Amino acid sequence: MKIKIPPSTNQIDFKRSELPIYIKDLSEIVGIENPTIYVEIGFGNGEFLVEMAKREKSSVFIGFEISGIGIEKLRSRVRKENLKNVLCIREDGFWGLHFCFPDSSIDKIFINFPDPWPKRKHEERRITTRKKLILLHEKLKPEGKIEILTDSKNFVDYTIEQAKEIFKVKTEERKDFSITTKYMRKWLLQGRKIYSVLLEKSKNLLTPESKKYYNFEIEKLPKIKMFLERKIEKFAYKKEDLEHKVFKIEEGIFVKFFDILEGKNKILIETLISEHGYEQLFIIKVERKGEKFAVDISPFSSVIRTEGIEKLIEKLSQGQL
Ligand SMILES: C[S@@+](CC[C@H](N)C(=O)[O-])C[C@H]1O[C@@H](n2cnc3c(N)ncnc32)[C@H](O)[C@@H]1O
Repeated sequence: MKIKIPPSTNQIDFKRSELPIYIKDLSEIVGIENPTIYVEIGFGNGEFLVEMAKREKSSVFIGFEISGIGIEKLRSRVRKENLKNVLCIREDGFWGLHFCFPDSSIDKIFINFPDPWPKRKHEERRITTRKKLILLHEKLKPEGKIEILTDSKNFVDYTIEQAKEIFKVKTEERKDFSITTKYMRKWLLQGRKIYSVLLEKSKNLLTPESKKYYNFEIEKLPKIKMFLERKIEKFAYKKEDLEHKVFKIEEGIFVKFFDILEGKNKILIETLISEHGYEQLFIIKVERKGEKFAVDISPFSSVIRTEGIEKLIEKLSQGQL
């Protein structure tokens, strides 16, 4: 899918529903031919991304951030500096990389002061689990790198353990920085040590066999499908059949319906889908159109139309839940 945005609009952020932004389209969006691609996960207030983008005008800087305040802060910095080479996406970094980038397309990924999630029960939330590192590895160019800065020695040790069979790992305590970030300044003021962890793809340790051993198949992750609405003769369900109920669509894909609003010609269904761990909350709209009913996602929902959502809409339309 191609997204056409005139460079003059200075639009720097994309809604989920506008994904994917494939690399082949990037030159068109930012007006730079074959740019070097840098990604930052969790850019906070955006100062690192903006400073880098000012220094390297012929490269593209793409940031993922889940905080809306962070997105707004980056927006205003980009406007102030009138930068055209920064894009940002309000999305989880792992899923954002999965949806937006083809394999072997990124030069370098920066992760500055990621949440360390120190408790063992939250380990899965860390950005450097083996599963996440395998995906990041796939998205990097052959000589690509990941650079992580952190104040947490435990996080460094954990990351080395997870990464050592996938990347060439270098780690050191760092004292000099040409760009600082909010969290870096905070930890330096408190006298904490700062560590860098550099993960290099150049020594490619990940083989198809080892991927199987890690029991993580990227091919199984949700795929984007630009499906159209379903037209049906009759909607098979009553409100009480669906409201506050959970259904299994297939292995790894579950759906829960919350509140349902019924109007004269329209039913709105609040829906949560979990697709191999990727969760999306949205509204399904069932609307009478003449003699038929149309089933689709409400246009007010910002969703990535995935294979799982397509299967859900199909089953709901056909009365097969
Ligand atoms: C500790 S702050 C560091 C911010 C900034 N990099 C700095 O150095 O000042 C971690 C940031 O990561 C963001 N974040 C947390 N989980 C994320 C995820 N899964 N994907 C993208 N960003 C995430 C948070 O919203 C927060 O802004």
